[in-house]
Amino acid sequence: MITHEQRAALIKAAIEVRERAYAPYSNYQVGAALLMADGTMVTGVNVENSSYGLTICAERTAVTTAITAGHRKILAVAVATDNAGSPCGACRQVLTEFAGDVPVYLVDKVGNGRDTTLYTLLPDHFGPEHLT
Ligand code: THU
Repeated sequence: MITHEQRAALIKAAIEVRERAYAPYSNYQVGAALLMADGTMVTGVNVENSSYGLTICAERTAVTTAITAGHRKILAVAVATDNAGSPCGACRQVLTEFAGDVPVYLVDKVGNGRDTTLYTLLPDHFGPEHLT
């Protein structure tokens, strides 16, 4: 169960880290924050490239940072954008590798937006059980 304090802290972290997004081509800055099983928060931003297809989304930056730091289990996700936009399909799939049907908080730069869950965003996702 995520507390109100944890939810607020996660959203604040996503909004704050969004300032560091590198998005000179789209000008669509994204900040993501993950709450990990031990209570740690891990953040990420989108990092674009002049070879546009090499861009990495904020959510996947956060996931790779979390795994690099030794975390494996995501308890909640916050994503901050200009307009509380929804995560792309690739990021939804990558998040499911390390999260169950966790809360996902989608917010704009002042924290307005909506709460959803990962399985609402990506029902019937591909998982390791399909590889047997
Ligand atoms: N972007 C993200 O960082 N996360 C998403 O889930 C959707 C899109 C980024 C990629 C690109 O830098 C910019 O937003 C516009 O697509």
